[in-house]
Amino acid sequence: METRQDGRLALIGICSFLVAVAGSPAISAPPEKAVSSYGPINQDVTFDQIKTARTAVKAGRAREHMELLNSRYDLSKKIPGEVFMSGGKPIPVGPTARLQGVTREQFDRLTPEQIKEQGLFPYKPLPFADHAEGGMLFPAMITNLLPRLVRFDLDFDVPEHFLPDPAPAIYLTTRPDLGDVAKGRLITIDNYYEIFNGLLNPKQLEGLRLLVTQFPQQQFNATEDRRTDRPSLGVTCFDCHANGHTNGASHLVGDIRPQEFRHRIETPSLRGINIQRLFGSQRALKTVEDFTEFEQRGAYFDGDHCMAAKKGVNVLERGSQVHFMAEFMALLDFPPAPKLNIYGTLDSGKARPSELHGEALFNGKARCSACHPAPYYTDNSMHNLKAERFYKQEMANGMMMAHDGSIKTFLLRGIKDSPPYLHDGRCLTLEDTVEYFNLIQQLRLTPEEKADLVAFMRCL
Ligand code: HEC
Ligand code: HEC
Repeated sequence: METRQDGRLALIGICSFLVAVAGSPAISAPPEKAVSSYGPINQDVTFDQIKTARTAVKAGRAREHMELLNSRYDLSKKIPGEVFMSGGKPIPVGPTARLQGVTREQFDRLTPEQIKEQGLFPYKPLPFADHAEGGMLFPAMITNLLPRLVRFDLDFDVPEHFLPDPAPAIYLTTRPDLGDVAKGRLITIDNYYEIFNGLLNPKQLEGLRLLVTQFPQQQFNATEDRRTDRPSLGVTCFDCHANGHTNGASHLVGDIRPQEFRHRIETPSLRGINIQRLFGSQRALKTVEDFTEFEQRGAYFDGDHCMAAKKGVNVLERGSQVHFMAEFMALLDFPPAPKLNIYGTLDSGKARPSELHGEALFNGKARCSACHPAPYYTDNSMHNLKAERFYKQEMANGMMMAHDGSIKTFLLRGIKDSPPYLHDGRCLTLEDTVEYFNLIQQLRLTPEEKADLVAFMRCL
């Protein structure tokens, strides 16, 4: 098991080792450092040394991490091709989580204490691809189109059949008559103007421009400790929130120290940001404007404003830039849901019996609506689901599986479009989320009830 405190300290150690092996007297080993909230500002190793050290451990870390993923999940591609995301990608079907040597029936009878004692919980917190190292990490479906997002030291971990559409549909609250405006195109600085000029007002167009403009970030910048081969101008908001939705890109939350306690976080969709009141899985910032400023100044640099200063943070002007960006984000509508009526509930004339039964369970026996009420299926609040009732606090590949704490109730409108699920993506499919809440709430749902809840959520 991993016990490293901080990827950067480990890196310095490896670099010193490499230098010692090479016999260079130029750089001596730095003295042992105490654990600190701050990252190293005065980088005393060169880009080549960092790249050599990181490349040397890359394959081993990837193997370790994929072993963990494969032991927890069946990652094979199961897409019956009957249900699709709004952009046309088939929806993956689960549950994917493995039950370690017990049948579903045996497992469903166990108490939380027994599950914890026997180490059987299928949905433990998920570590980042290299948790001790951290940073932003992008799936191949985006790095293939935008090679500037390739990290030399890390490849994306979750297979692409569990990720959203590569170029998600865009629906505008102001022009529902247009349907999907993106039409399979990934919106970037190269095409945003020709696609949106004439559809948006100039402020919104300028907001969109800023959302597709690169700004420096911890791993993507021009300094020697970047994780890109060439110096980088940085990342754009839409590199993760692809087309205002998500491509499943992940990073480590900036708010928590030390490193092993930081959560892996999956990019949430920005669709429906206009009806939400809390932003961030745990930060609970109160406006999109605040989150936009915070994301760039804080989250981009691991919550370390000293790092931000060194790497060239781009300070957005509140009145003319942050507001414009937020104005565009507020236009991002949910995908059409033809089976929902004006109250956001199922239209009994259009829905199938299993979907209607799923809705009745959602509002009744399964108690989902306690936290996910219609029409948008969020209470705009936070809840502590106390998942730690089911697992022991211990290290897993550089991450401490600790308490999640209170997490924002993510909304469920359009939920079929945004796997994987939960703040860290530990549930790869909707079936897994039903299994998760079946356990969390100790519901003891039957297989048919579980299937109907999934059928209902696919309508949202
Ligand atoms: C590395 C990918 C990445 C980039 C780049 C990125 N975000 Fe995010 N964004 C995330 C993640 C992950 C979260 C969830 C944060 C959390 O859980 O606390 C998030 C959350 C948000 C939220 C709150 C959503 C919610 O449901 O609470 C907003 C708004 C947002 N981002 C806007 C932006 C803007 C504006 C930019 C550009 C300045 C940006 N993001 C750049 C990954 C990214
Ligand atoms: C006590 C409140 C509560 C109840 C009850 C509840 N949820 Fe949730 N739900 C949450 C919270 C909080 C999250 C975010 C948890 C996280 O990210 O770790 C969430 C997340 C989800 C997600 C993933 C959303 C995303 O964007 O990743 C799905 C799907 C979901 N819930 C479905 C259900 C279903 C189905 C039920 C009923 C069987 C249910 N929930 C019951 C609070 C609740």
